[in-house]
Amino acid sequence: MPDIPFLTFEGVIAGYGGGDVLKGVDLEVSAGGITCIVGPNGSGKSTLLKALSGLVKPRQGAIHFKGVNLVGRSPREILRLGIVQVPQNHSLFREMTVQQNVELGAFLERDRGVIAERLERIRALFPIVAERADDKAGSLSGGQQRLVEFARCLMLDPQVVVLDEPSMGLDPKTLRLMFATVRQMNEAGRTIVLVEQNARQGLKLASTGVVLENGRVRLAGSGAEVLHNPEIGALYLGGSLEEAATGGQHG
Ligand SMILES: Nc1ncnc2c1ncn2[C@@H]1O[C@H](COP(=O)(O)OP(=O)(O)OP(=O)(O)O)[C@@H](O)[C@H]1O
Ligand SMILES: [Mg+2]
Repeated sequence: MPDIPFLTFEGVIAGYGGGDVLKGVDLEVSAGGITCIVGPNGSGKSTLLKALSGLVKPRQGAIHFKGVNLVGRSPREILRLGIVQVPQNHSLFREMTVQQNVELGAFLERDRGVIAERLERIRALFPIVAERADDKAGSLSGGQQRLVEFARCLMLDPQVVVLDEPSMGLDPKTLRLMFATVRQMNEAGRTIVLVEQNARQGLKLASTGVVLENGRVRLAGSGAEVLHNPEIGALYLGGSLEEAATGGQHG
């Protein structure tokens, strides 16, 4: 029997009722990698992630995760299968403590022992979770909140972590920490699918790069291939040249 592919998009067509946004997306995401999706505003990157996590229901096509078609399944079912998306907007409960927020991430897990063990590992990976455990989440800066959101998603012990523009609004130092954390989550065995406006840094980090244009995959290859594709460079990476010169060397 041939190996079952890890995660595939096959002819995915999806939108919001006013015409199709994804116009037939074919894509293969390999297990254990970091796949970085780049492309112009409005090209459908967030829609692609939402289709994966079940927030948008494709009207045609399939998304297979280890042989299971995700299309038509609820976001909760998809979470249970091990695919967890960190929301793009601030999603912590501001009046609850950092620790309470992180613990909430384990809502699908009943075993207190398992929860305690995961929390221990997460506190080691994210010092902020330990240091600010009893502070209200709303008192943290935006970047600190982003890290707590990452920490919370790990409480579900996901196989696939889906991140929509995790670098948005972060200062250079927090940005580096965020990218390093993505790498660490990946090294811990999680497959990462991320959309990154900060295309240069995202592609440097990625094992696979994908350029989405007008709802279709324009180019897919290794992160380095996409990064060094001259046409893609001119079209999509130009905007971050300045950034690359000032902050991009660290990535
Ligand atoms: N909830 C929604 N309802 C209706 N249309 C939407 C909705 N969300 C997105 N769209 C439309 O779908 C298209 C693709 O949006 P999407 O958010 O997927 O793009 P994107 O590539 O993530 O862009 P950006 O880089 O700006 O985040 C856009 O034309 C957008 O207006
Ligand atoms: Mg988007």
